[in-house]
Amino acid sequence: MAETFQITNVLEGIREAVSFGKKKIVGIDIGSSAIKVAEVSVQGRGKVRLHRFAHIPLPEGAIIEDEIIKGDEISTAIEDAIKEASCVGHAVCFGMAGQHSITKKIQVAGGSKDEVDDQVYWEIEQFIPFDIDDSAISYDVIGENNAGGVDVVFCAAKSDAVDNYKNLFEQANIKVKIVDTNIASLINVFEYNYQDKVKNSDRSYIILDFGAQRTEFIVYREGTLSFCKEMNIGGLVITEEIQRKMGVKYESAEDLKIVGDSSGNLPEEVLSIIDDVVEVFLVEAKKTLDFYIQSTSDETIDHIYVTGGSGQIPGFIEGLASALGHEVSIFNPLENIDYDKHFSTEEINYIGHCGAVALGLAMRSGD
Ligand SMILES: Nc1ncnc2c1ncn2[C@@H]1O[C@H](COP(=O)(O)OP(=O)(O)OP(=O)(O)O)[C@@H](O)[C@H]1O
Ligand SMILES: [Mg+2]
Repeated sequence: MAETFQITNVLEGIREAVSFGKKKIVGIDIGSSAIKVAEVSVQGRGKVRLHRFAHIPLPEGAIIEDEIIKGDEISTAIEDAIKEASCVGHAVCFGMAGQHSITKKIQVAGGSKDEVDDQVYWEIEQFIPFDIDDSAISYDVIGENNAGGVDVVFCAAKSDAVDNYKNLFEQANIKVKIVDTNIASLINVFEYNYQDKVKNSDRSYIILDFGAQRTEFIVYREGTLSFCKEMNIGGLVITEEIQRKMGVKYESAEDLKIVGDSSGNLPEEVLSIIDDVVEVFLVEAKKTLDFYIQSTSDETIDHIYVTGGSGQIPGFIEGLASALGHEVSIFNPLENIDYDKHFSTEEINYIGHCGAVALGLAMRSGD
């Protein structure tokens, strides 16, 4: 098992977060569209406070389908983001996501620690699409289940993919302390922010991280991950369609999508591309939800929380609510996290939509 890889109890995220004391960890989300860095501290009564945050956009095609294409540019962006944020931490925690990693809840028979170890490794071998001997694995026993066994959440990542990501930091002379998964990080930051509502609830909550190249569809239930599916669709498809249909470069297409034309309006052509992509997305999201409900008979979905930059697509929240038949709101990662005064409204708005993963990674213990 890779020394640095840890899921850290998904269930115990808050306690882990409050236990890291003086050891400063910089949380770094290597998103396919931007690098985001965050640094927090834990104040009295375990209250998390955000001190530093920065994001640096990545050039077009820096990461494609989880493969690092423009390593030098990504390394430089990591360095620049840490500098821009003026981080004081000397070690980082980053998260794996996508096809080289998996985070999943499974059921095993239980027994002694060694027996559970054996069962978990056997089960993991069935699920992961890569060789278990070349993987970093970590798991967490959640507790007994109704079937008389125990529930376990595991994270696994392909070792050479982890190494490729770690090299990005080494190139910038930055020490990696913890390798996490984005899914575990999202669950921790979600639970921390909405604990009063969700922690002791017997309802289920969906967290949807709608990013540039992928979407995480996570079901949080009774203090842990209940289900998760990674959908290979994100807002980049819209940008690419704008590039293709309107004959513009990546940066201009992003601008046309996000801020519109010179008078700040989204051109008809852009709106129609957005509608088409969102429609495909909603069908996929509905299929995923139906699959989850069919396989678990869970009828207790309470609310859907959306994070990720693409959640800002005009009309998306309303479209999702109507397609999935549940209430939808933006997942605010600063709902229960205080922050320093120096942040501008613009930065807080960015963190509110795109900063959840980096915040969750920053909240990891340095142990
Ligand atoms: N106001 C907006 N309207 C529509 N799309 C937006 C808006 N703001 C940002 N986006 C889109 O959100 C995406 C970036 O979101 P985010 O930062 O969550 O992705 P990421 O973490 O880099 O990607 P991934 O998680 O898929 O690797 C980009 O595709 C960007 O164009
Ligand atoms: Mg992301």
